[in-house]
Amino acid sequence: MRRILRSNFKPGTPNWAGRRAQWRALGLSDEDMEKPKIAIINSSSELAICFSHLDGIAAKVKEAIRAAGGLPFEVRTAAPSDFITNAGRGGGYILPTRDLIVNDIEVQVEGALLDGMICLASCDKTTPGQLMAAGRLNIPTIVVICGYQQSGTYRGQHMDIEEVFLKSSFVASGGVSLAEITEMADNAVRSPGVCAGMGTANSMHIVCEALGMSLPGSAPVLANSPKMMGHVREAGQRIVQMVWDDYKPRDIMTAESFANAAMVVLALSASINTVKHLQAIAMECECDVDVYDLFARYADKIPLLAAIRPTGEGLIEDLEAAGGTRAVMKRLEGLLHCNARTVTGQNVGEVLNDVQIANEKVIHTVLNPVSKPPSLVIVKGSLLPGGGIVRLGGPSERTMRFTGPANIFHSREEAMEAIGRGEVKPGQVVVLRGIGVKGGPGLAMTSSVVFALDGAGLIDKVAVVTEGQLSGLVNRGLVVGEASPEAMEGGPLGLVDNGDPISIDVDKRVVNLDVPEETLAKRREEQRQFGKTGERGWLSIYQRTVQPVHKGAVLFK
Ligand code: FES
Repeated sequence: MRRILRSNFKPGTPNWAGRRAQWRALGLSDEDMEKPKIAIINSSSELAICFSHLDGIAAKVKEAIRAAGGLPFEVRTAAPSDFITNAGRGGGYILPTRDLIVNDIEVQVEGALLDGMICLASCDKTTPGQLMAAGRLNIPTIVVICGYQQSGTYRGQHMDIEEVFLKSSFVASGGVSLAEITEMADNAVRSPGVCAGMGTANSMHIVCEALGMSLPGSAPVLANSPKMMGHVREAGQRIVQMVWDDYKPRDIMTAESFANAAMVVLALSASINTVKHLQAIAMECECDVDVYDLFARYADKIPLLAAIRPTGEGLIEDLEAAGGTRAVMKRLEGLLHCNARTVTGQNVGEVLNDVQIANEKVIHTVLNPVSKPPSLVIVKGSLLPGGGIVRLGGPSERTMRFTGPANIFHSREEAMEAIGRGEVKPGQVVVLRGIGVKGGPGLAMTSSVVFALDGAGLIDKVAVVTEGQLSGLVNRGLVVGEASPEAMEGGPLGLVDNGDPISIDVDKRVVNLDVPEETLAKRREEQRQFGKTGERGWLSIYQRTVQPVHKGAVLFK
């Protein structure tokens, strides 16, 4: 016997009558109104290529849901694109839009008491926002991976949008001309979908599959390919059965599945943004797991199995062709929690049973990896009691220990101008503060500072500690990102003065401020102020409610 759906209101009640009047006018039948009601979460707009194809995908999902006996409703949400909506307020809107999406989904799906969700995952913040909403609402959900874009070529060489972003940092110093960067930009993107390479978008798509929230074989995938469309149809059919079975996200996203996702991130040197997003998703699931501890626990155990750009020269297409997330998980099978469940109803062990690795040169074995662990390290210490993240990537000449005097900046623009004027000197630790989730507000993107240091020939000669987020990867130098707690939160970062010695030891996982406690006590009395004040609108609400980045930067305690 089928269960009673929460969306089927008692006939004759005010909610039933008002909704019936509306939905009859929309052309729905009595039979329709008894069906499982599925939201298709379409986080898109006309502003960016990342999600320009989602309307077409939504139409296909609707067909599949109807064919399976469900009733689809497309629901639109806010839709940030890192390369488009980063222009205003110093990039401050990007991360806060993740949380806007969560609340957008809550008010529409929970407000209407729908029975299930298909979420269309695309640009960086859409996937974590949708997974957070799935954890919060805990109604049957499948996340459909909407795929990556085709990259282009520039003078016979591979050219993608991340490369354009990196090379744009060389324009100011004359290393790249305006004509060259224009030609690169004009040829970098060839079709809809998310940025190519192991940036945050593809990383989060992979995380989604590793968590069990997407159909196996979903990520990475070329946008609009027959393979992607196959998963779209399958997800539309499967979600209806999941609703009847009342099979929910918290049955799937457990401590074991978060551990699995952390291992896959380490095996691929995926984006550091995955760490805070996984923490935020776990908190929305009310799952008692410290994701930072998970990464610390597995950092020395999980080697790099595939070197995809920007970690290596492999393309995201190569990873897909070699078997994608499933194949990486097959390599890790002996280490994973194979009892963790997936949206298919099967557990991870069952999913991995017949998986083959199609290209041994792309996805290495644990015993013969691309490089030894770790690819990503959580560092803590007297400067960063909450933690910071170092993305090491693959084999490199990277500095692992650094001690030097602080050279402090309070915006990326201030730092880049100082680099341009030659005011950053070899031996210094560049500190970027007052720009975290609260100070920004919204966690400024600080990769451009790292790229500018690289362009100025300083990346091997300085270290960086930034409250901001990082995208892309420079395979040299020592950069600690997402330093927490931030100065505006009262963290030790706010007590640093120019010239103070800071020591970083990645092997020992520490970042210390080497200043006597009595000096710091006097500075605490000064009650220093950091970050922007006088914000209005959404960023003001965000600034007043956001939690530290090492707690996922969620908007509740
Ligand atoms: Fe949208 Fe990169 S800007 S995926």
